[in-house]
Amino acid sequence: MSHSIHSILNFGIKRLKDCGVQNFNFEATFLLEEVLSVTREYLFLNKDKVVSTKNFNKFKTYITRRLDGEPIQYISKTAHFFSKKFHIMSGVLVPRPETEILVEKVLSEISKQNRGNLTCMDMCTGTGCIGLTLCLETEKIKQMFLIDNYKKPEKCCLRNISSLNLSLKASYVSSDLFKSVTKIKFDYIISNPPYISNKDYGALNKDIMRFEQKSALIAGSEGLTFIKKISTEAGDYLKNGGHLFLEVGYNQGNKVKKLLESIGYKDVVSYNDLNGIQRVVKGKWKK
Ligand SMILES: C[S@@+](CC[C@H](N)C(=O)[O-])C[C@H]1O[C@@H](n2cnc3c(N)ncnc32)[C@H](O)[C@@H]1O
Repeated sequence: MSHSIHSILNFGIKRLKDCGVQNFNFEATFLLEEVLSVTREYLFLNKDKVVSTKNFNKFKTYITRRLDGEPIQYISKTAHFFSKKFHIMSGVLVPRPETEILVEKVLSEISKQNRGNLTCMDMCTGTGCIGLTLCLETEKIKQMFLIDNYKKPEKCCLRNISSLNLSLKASYVSSDLFKSVTKIKFDYIISNPPYISNKDYGALNKDIMRFEQKSALIAGSEGLTFIKKISTEAGDYLKNGGHLFLEVGYNQGNKVKKLLESIGYKDVVSYNDLNGIQRVVKGKWKK
């Protein structure tokens, strides 16, 4: 029996809906797009096209994995960030929508500068989504160093550098924070580090705990271990007038602002997300 795109999509939507998946429509469509390697528009314009049995079986497997709680990004090995596609695998943090705010704020700061040839670092890079998006969004970046300390993020990030054709600008460095980073001076250090406290980690959705990399999330009793280390050590790597941008947790904005001021950063400010929560803290190194 042959199956059309329309019937297969409805099958997936119904299974996800019946099992209580909230975004059943979006998720089934996303998974079918990935199985068939087509766009959403293609699916809607070609509803009657026949899908091979092999692809239908693949889609069924994807739906079953989703019903087992696996995020769609790990199933399809694809994550969307800033309207771009990034390769991802289980064990690497799925880029979050709130991290787009961090990228927007860095882009806005860069746009105020007349200077180009900027040297930047994305500390705790994961997929590379922050640093690579910045390279794609502004010509002013000359060099981007992407730092992580784990094998799977390294593999993912290297693949994304290559698939986004950024090998001339972006380099991956395997390092425990700054330990193996050459001591050159940067214009921008940007980081979305692990910032979840031990207590908040225990309250996370159980599927996050099952599938996502714990070392990408957890950061001591207050969630500030990495933020403290990065802001303290970044001073040795920032040019005079260079900027540090950090993504922070829902209750950390004021603490991190105070921390940066106590270290010696100037013009320290925070930016809110759409829910009015401080999400990004920025400081200028001296000058
Ligand atoms: C919250 S995730 C952020 C990933 C990515 N930047 C993003 O926004 O999606 C934190 C990242 O820090 C990395 N990490 C954890 N400990 C590290 C360390 N000691 N040195 C460098 N990277 C580390 C993890 O592997 C993970 O990729």
